[in-house]
Amino acid sequence: MKSKSLVSITDFTKDDYLRILEKAAEFEKKSYQNLLDSKVIATLFFEPSTRTRLSFESAINRLGGRVIGFNDSSTSSVSKGETLYDTIRVVSNYSELIVMRHPLEGSARFASEITNIPIINAGDGANQHPTQTLLDLYSIQKTQGKLDNLNIFMVGDLKYGRTVHSLLMALSEFNATFYFISPDELRMPEEYKLYLDKIGLKYHESKEFKPNIIEADIIYMTRVQKERFSDPIEYERTKNAYVLKNEMIEDSKPGMKVLHPLPRVNEIHPDVDANAKAYYFQQTENGVYVRQAIISLILGLV
Ligand code: CP
Repeated sequence: MKSKSLVSITDFTKDDYLRILEKAAEFEKKSYQNLLDSKVIATLFFEPSTRTRLSFESAINRLGGRVIGFNDSSTSSVSKGETLYDTIRVVSNYSELIVMRHPLEGSARFASEITNIPIINAGDGANQHPTQTLLDLYSIQKTQGKLDNLNIFMVGDLKYGRTVHSLLMALSEFNATFYFISPDELRMPEEYKLYLDKIGLKYHESKEFKPNIIEADIIYMTRVQKERFSDPIEYERTKNAYVLKNEMIEDSKPGMKVLHPLPRVNEIHPDVDANAKAYYFQQTENGVYVRQAIISLILGLV
C-alpha cells in the first residue's frame, strides 16, 4: 500500500483501491480466517456509530483478533481533560492499529503523525470517511460489474456529507460523471468542483431530482447531517429536501442501484426497501469484507 495509515482516500492509489476490492471479494467467499492471531486492535469512537464500529469489530473478530476501545468518550479519560495527543500515545502502547472516529476535521491526520502504528480514519467531522468509500466502491463494482464511466447521482447533504467527499475523490479515478442534487444551502463545496474542473471530469448541479434520472447508474442518497449545522433553523429548512419514493425511480435503468451510507432518517421512504433497485442494506454487509481487506493489507498479513 502507498501509505501505512488510511486517513484520506487519496492516501491510497487507484491500484490500492483495486487490490482492496480484490481481497474483499476473497473475504466475502471465506470470511473467517485467523490472520490476526489474537493481535489487539483499538477502536476509539469519539462520535456515535453503528455500522462503522460494529463492522470493524466484526471484521477484527472474523480475522481472529481482539478489540479494545470505547464508543463513548465520556467513559474515557478524555472526560477528565486528557488530550487527543496523550490518548493516541497511550493507546498506541496497547494495540497494533487504531481505528478512530472523531468530530474534528484533521484529527485522524494528527493522530497518524504522532504514532508509529497505523491509524484508520473512521470519519473525521465533515471531512473524510475513506473506509465507507472503499465499501461503496465494492458495492458499485458488484452491482454494475465495473467502476469505469458511470453516472453517479449524489443527493442531499453534499456540503457536510463526508461520504460523498471521499467517494467523489475515489470515483474521479474512474472517469465518472457526477450529478449533484441538493438544496442551495447544501451544495457540493467549491474545492471538489474545482478539482473536477482541473482534471476535466463532467458534473451537473441541480435542485431538481427527476429530469435526468434515466441517466443514473447509481443514486447515492445522503442524510442531512443535523450534527454539523450551526444554525438549527437552516437544518429545519433543509431536512426534508429530498425523500426518495418508488415512483421517482420508475424511469431509471433496470440495473440502477440506490446506495446510502446509512443511517437514514427520512430521505428514503421505507416502501423503497422492497424495490430491487434498493441496495443499502447489502451495502452494509459489504463493509465487513472490505474492512477485513483493509486491516489485513495495512498490517501486511496478506
Ligand atoms: N455509514 C456510517 O458511517 O454509519 P455509522 O455512522 O453508523 O457508522
